[in-house]
Amino acid sequence: MTENIFPIKDIMESRTDKEAVLGQKGVTIWFTGLSGSGKSTVAIALESLLSSKGYLCRILDGDNIRTGLNSNLGFSEADRNENIRRIAEVCKLFTETGIITIAAFVSPTNDLRRMARDIVGKDDFVEIYMSTPLEECERRDVKGLYARARKGEVKNFTGISAPFDIPEEPTLSIDTTNSRPEECAQLIFNEIASHISCGGNQDKYEENYI
Ligand code: ADX
Repeated sequence: MTENIFPIKDIMESRTDKEAVLGQKGVTIWFTGLSGSGKSTVAIALESLLSSKGYLCRILDGDNIRTGLNSNLGFSEADRNENIRRIAEVCKLFTETGIITIAAFVSPTNDLRRMARDIVGKDDFVEIYMSTPLEECERRDVKGLYARARKGEVKNFTGISAPFDIPEEPTLSIDTTNSRPEECAQLIFNEIASHISCGGNQDKYEENYI
């Protein structure tokens, strides 16, 4: 399907040029975990922390992806696969633009996460496992979906009637049962700080404003 497609990569500005404009290095921070484990909440706290330090970020989550780009997809195995494939391709584009890209999706299996890592590129992919136990996610039940899944009203619900594989080698595991989103964001920032800095705008930003 791609035989008549001719990429124009070589005449576009390079990733390094874009990163120099932004004064930061692109990366994908990939959150995985059960529904209700705190992925989006910590993603938002991380975005806020990074923004306060002068970094440009983009969060991708169910709210902006499953209602738009992926609105034709459900939760069958094939649809989850296509969901994650498209998301990873979008992450790659943002990351290559120098943007700190924060993806917060259940991405329940090792195969799905491996595919995402392969698409984005392993050097640009930081995996954060939100290890908040099922009991706590179910206790929170922010969207009422666990209760409905238990009654059989929602099919293939991850953790109840569809599998979640524990990630094999995440960069960080975070249980949000007893920690504040800001603390979790700080842990992640400490992990990625050296990866995203190129000694540019952020240093100036911190000198001037902090
Ligand atoms: S993924 O499995 O394909 O990665 P994604 O993160 O996009 O899932 O969407 C998960 C969100 O959709 C959940 O947080 C929940 O609110 C909602 N949802 C609706 N149906 C399901 C389901 N069957 N399994 C998991 N999440 C579901």
